[in-house]
Amino acid sequence: MKGYDATGGGGREAFLNYIGGQWIGARSGKTAASINPATGDVLGVVPASGPEDVEAAVQAAAGAYQSWRKVPAPRRAEILFRVAERLVGRKEELARLMTQEMGKILTEARGDVQEAIDMGYFIAGEGRRLHGYTAPSEMPNKAAYCRRAPLGVVGIITPWNFPMAIPSWKIFPALVCGNTVVFKPASYTPLLALKFVELFEEAGLPPGVLNIVTGVGSTVGDALVAHPSVRVVSFTGSTETGLRLAEACGRLGKRISLEMGGKNAAIVLPDADLSFATDALIWSAFGTSGQRCTACSRIIVHEAVRSELTQRLAARTRALRLGDGLLPETDVGPVVSDVQLERIHEYVEIGQKEGARLVTGGGRARGGALDKGSFYTPTIFDQVRPEMRIAREEIFGPVVVLMEARSLDEAVAIVNESSYGLSASIFTRDIGAAMRAIDDIDTGIVYVNHGTIGAEVHLPFGGTKQTGNGHREGGVQVLDVFSEWKAVYIDYSGRLQRAQIDRD
Ligand code: UN1
Repeated sequence: MKGYDATGGGGREAFLNYIGGQWIGARSGKTAASINPATGDVLGVVPASGPEDVEAAVQAAAGAYQSWRKVPAPRRAEILFRVAERLVGRKEELARLMTQEMGKILTEARGDVQEAIDMGYFIAGEGRRLHGYTAPSEMPNKAAYCRRAPLGVVGIITPWNFPMAIPSWKIFPALVCGNTVVFKPASYTPLLALKFVELFEEAGLPPGVLNIVTGVGSTVGDALVAHPSVRVVSFTGSTETGLRLAEACGRLGKRISLEMGGKNAAIVLPDADLSFATDALIWSAFGTSGQRCTACSRIIVHEAVRSELTQRLAARTRALRLGDGLLPETDVGPVVSDVQLERIHEYVEIGQKEGARLVTGGGRARGGALDKGSFYTPTIFDQVRPEMRIAREEIFGPVVVLMEARSLDEAVAIVNESSYGLSASIFTRDIGAAMRAIDDIDTGIVYVNHGTIGAEVHLPFGGTKQTGNGHREGGVQVLDVFSEWKAVYIDYSGRLQRAQIDRD
């Protein structure tokens, strides 16, 4: 099996980095384990790489760039199309591994793999477009057009919450544009990432075009960002890390595309269908155990329906079944680790101290098989005021806060008070209210009569304010992250024509 070193120690599967077309361990020989958060079982061990492994990977990518950039984009895209087809064939196997590696329930894990499939097909289509445009010249007998050009080696750093989808949003477009890639996946989900890279090898991607180096961010990620041959960095993760990497890139004059935190809000107006709004809000708040950048963590409800909505949400939340995501009866899986669980719980304690009312949840879930894993009970607070930390800071777990508003304008103002701006939604049957919310909400994604999660790959994904730095993933807009514009002028007049000067 590729990427697998049978000598890997302790009877546990040992996986390898992929550098320059070779499956290889860390130079130091060090390894780290990947652990199932539902059971505590070790799933495998992967290289605990160091800067020297990053160096080898960047060199491989820089070497491969010279020939990859010359492969016509439609041909590059054919390989990516084959990767998408392989993902289709292995969807179930990869989804099961995802549930085991990071905890999300199987139906959601299938969705994550599907999102990578969608992105693969979408971007493969771009191989035959990658549109530039022509423009008239101000001179006679002169043509002008602009086209995209690749940048070189791209560093890709991804989180654990969408172990297949998020890498696909970055790797497919980076490659179709003609760049080569060094990929550093999250420490919690290296196996999925290695499996993803295997598919590119099987699909015929030339050696060195895509390289993967597993390890911790402060070692591997930092070395990758700092490497002089890395021209672009694409990062999804915490605001703290993202801003730190952006500073490093700023000093080095590099482009960095950031997807960071969110504090996504849903507005519920009195005319909304509360039954369906409840379904959508439960899904947005507690799907993936609340560990989505797009998770709904604030519900801003009109005072006229506050009490009814709170009761409906509480009843549905208490009925959610926690457990191993591989079991069909499970609604909510574990959070990714105990470290993350402690962080979530600290916020719940902060919320109580701040004077918010705990409606339901608020602690580690225990009993039977739950004792082996990192399970947190889905939690709702109400009587939350905008200045409270639980209303402002990203918790990244199954915790949602209810806030009251007396009008649409007040609700929109609360949505916009956040320092983040990823997604927002409004539940109403009033088209005028919906249109005003679309106009006035300051986020990158707005939903009407839908929760805050569920973006599709062919539309731009990203947020305003501290969620990002102006770039978008998904949509054709992602191509702007991974390509440079080249303006071309062709003068066929046979004489000197000076722009701006020779006007007659
Ligand atoms: C994320 O949480 O970082 O819109 C990505 C959604 C998914 C992607 C989420 N399609 O919820």
